[in-house]
Amino acid sequence: MTSVQASRKLYLASGNAGKLREFRALAVAAHSNLELELLPQYASLPEFPETAPTFAENATGKALYYSRACADMVFSDDSGLVVPALGGEPGVHSARYAGPGASNDWKIAKLLAALRGKKGAERSAYFVCVIAVAQMGRVIAVVSDKVDGEIAEAPRGSGGFGYDPVFYFPALGKTFAELPADEKNARSHRGKAFHRLMEALDS
Ligand code: IMP
Repeated sequence: MTSVQASRKLYLASGNAGKLREFRALAVAAHSNLELELLPQYASLPEFPETAPTFAENATGKALYYSRACADMVFSDDSGLVVPALGGEPGVHSARYAGPGASNDWKIAKLLAALRGKKGAERSAYFVCVIAVAQMGRVIAVVSDKVDGEIAEAPRGSGGFGYDPVFYFPALGKTFAELPADEKNARSHRGKAFHRLMEALDS
């Protein structure tokens, strides 16, 4: 016997259509019943300040804040690159590591300069993603995952975004920017965290 599950609507607390596309691709690949939309009220509300020292506080704070403007479930994510040899930087500062408005190329250049002369384990790094879901001021779920890699000596590949050209994934011998989107999604911090979210919402 087959069962048809009703779809469940979730609003992404972001104005970033690219992020929505990525999450929708993850939902489709997982045959999930989640229907994802950008939160319509996002642009008209004062922006939530992502200034907390942890990814979890930023993601949860953002989901809670925007959930007060919507009756349906609201989700948000916070993600970034952590390099233990740099004391965890860029970490929660990943988006603005080279200053507000700096390009991805500048961020990568700053990272490679900070790691100049470092070899082997000192180039270990990981991406983290925390996803939080809230509804009308109440937290429903907080999930996270990570993916381990190394910072390459020089950028390689043209796919992805952010630090992908220097995030070398040893298991495949490629940087994330050299992987097709579906292959990156299957292995990335965001893809793995999204799977955890689906499990949490189903339980
Ligand atoms: P946010 O989660 O939108 O705040 O993004 C944080 C920053 O982390 C991004 O601007 C990127 O610089 C970096 N980042 C997060 N996830 C990825 C990824 O999958 N690839 C490359 N860079 C990433």
